[in-house]
Amino acid sequence: MTSASPTPDGWLAVDRYFADTLVGHDPALEEAVEAQRDAGLPAIEVAPVNGKFLHLLARISGARRVLEIGTLGGYSTIWLARALPRGGRVVTIEAEPVNAGVARANVDRAGVGSLVDIRVGRGEHVLPTLSDEEPFDLVFIDADKESNTLYLDWAARLGREGTVVVVDNVARGGEVADPDATDPRVVGTQRALAMLGSDPRFDATALQTLDLKGWDGIALAVVVRAGEL
Ligand code: DHB
Ligand code: MG
Repeated sequence: MTSASPTPDGWLAVDRYFADTLVGHDPALEEAVEAQRDAGLPAIEVAPVNGKFLHLLARISGARRVLEIGTLGGYSTIWLARALPRGGRVVTIEAEPVNAGVARANVDRAGVGSLVDIRVGRGEHVLPTLSDEEPFDLVFIDADKESNTLYLDWAARLGREGTVVVVDNVARGGEVADPDATDPRVVGTQRALAMLGSDPRFDATALQTLDLKGWDGIALAVVVRAGEL
């Protein structure tokens, strides 16, 4: 089967092929997804190939302190925690206590519980409490899209020169390119991309993704100047 333009059947087959070939069967991650579903959480965790991408970014960058904004059921948290060197830590922020409970059980079952610090509360309240800690080496932003610019601002404040920043869900089925978009989640993402393009603290790009979560994308940035703007 070949096709000049992607169709859902086509891109799902390629995603499955990549995942089967490069990620493989992973009971801890599969159980985390099942537990999340059984608890009634939405199936909006990153795709397996995407989780592995985050994992590799963390390893390539040598990240020892990782900050995740938006834990959900801990699926991406497990991927990130598995990338840590000795002494590393993932701090992950989750606004919804029920989600945090599911994530706690999932990271514990996956054997990375001692590496993961789940802070329950809204990002805007929890992020300022992290100012006194050592800077983060990698920040993964995957929470309410309306707050993406606030989260990017905190990523620069809590990072250092060279900190890697990833923002999930930047393409949203193509809606991001609509200048008349009114959905606050899309507008929040457009503002985040504009910030990544103009704020002198970041250098960034974005990639579209087609996987079992549909047509979406991630922004990838490096902090070139940390602190407040
Ligand atoms: C939604 C949020 C996400 O982080 C995601 O990856 C997919 C969907 C949402 O809020 O709809
Ligand atoms: Mg997401």
